[in-house]
Amino acid sequence: MILAIESSCDEVSVALVGHDYTVRKNILYSSAGIANATGGVVPEMAARKAEQNIAWVITQAMDLVSLDNISAIAVTCGYGLLGSLFTGIEAAKTLAFLWKKPLIPVFHTFGHMCAPMLGSGEGVFPRMVLSVSGGHNEIILWKSPLQWERIGKSIDDAAGECFDKCARMLGLGYPGGPLLSALAKTATGQHSFSFPRPMMHAEGFDMSFSGLKTAVLYAIEKNGGIGEFSQEQKADAAQEIEKAIVEVLLARVAKAMKVFEIRHLEITGGVSANTLLREEANSLCIKKKWTLRMPQKIEFCTDNGAMIGAAANCIWQHSIDKTFDFRSVSVITR
Ligand code: KG4
Ligand code: ZN
Repeated sequence: MILAIESSCDEVSVALVGHDYTVRKNILYSSAGIANATGGVVPEMAARKAEQNIAWVITQAMDLVSLDNISAIAVTCGYGLLGSLFTGIEAAKTLAFLWKKPLIPVFHTFGHMCAPMLGSGEGVFPRMVLSVSGGHNEIILWKSPLQWERIGKSIDDAAGECFDKCARMLGLGYPGGPLLSALAKTATGQHSFSFPRPMMHAEGFDMSFSGLKTAVLYAIEKNGGIGEFSQEQKADAAQEIEKAIVEVLLARVAKAMKVFEIRHLEITGGVSANTLLREEANSLCIKKKWTLRMPQKIEFCTDNGAMIGAAANCIWQHSIDKTFDFRSVSVITR
């Protein structure tokens, strides 16, 4: 098994993942409750919470586990909030030194890319990936286990960030994506909103979400501010925001599907927890006769240790040199 540590943002998660990609444990501490009270993640608070909780999370994951069953340790080394990353990396280095184990550094977005493998194995190559979270938003051609190319990205906000900022404008908490989506489900359609689908038909495969966010702000201001909105109005606005984000994401993917005849799509990252995105992606893949795979459990869509374990296992299985000296691991910053 691989012991994997993820602490790139407001959570600390430690997982045990088998070499067959089965999840043996996935323990998570999240400080999202604090971010909810402050309206977003405050880096210093997230780092303090990570530092206070990491020992507890590691202890929970290692409960009743023999060290002989651990072949390697893995840790997220970037991108992310510095204080939170340092906490995970220093803990992982200490364990690697004490237990004399290899330490595999994992890039956070590669972790998300590997989340669909959890519980179902490595899968086929080549594949196309839509990786979409609060911090990144990319379309990737993944050619072979350790070789991929990004063909499209958001040129401004990531889709998850757009969900979060629009949710905040609607007076909802953090993280906004699931809250906005739940509100959208109660829409009655009595109040019509029409928001733009930025760059939906632009050249290439890049995306943009900041124009949508601004349109939402103007619509709220035009109607006298969010205090003047009824619950029904908020729900109708939320439904239109969710539809706009999902349409843009899938229009860009559909265009890429036309150009690259790969026939297998994976969607991953926090926003892949979104029900509308899941349903619409399913319909798109049926129509195009592509296969589709997404993380099996919602807990593997958002940040978690298990996906870092899957990524480390992929690196481990396909690397000839398995030394992975802990002394050469350090944080990667943007
Ligand atoms: O992957 P993740 O946990 O963290 C980053 O790497 O950024 O993604 C978090 C993002 C947040 O923006 C959150 O609002 C969004 O994923 N998210 C959702 C849903 N669940 C989480 N967005 C839309 N619908 C959801 N159900
Ligand atoms: Zn993430």
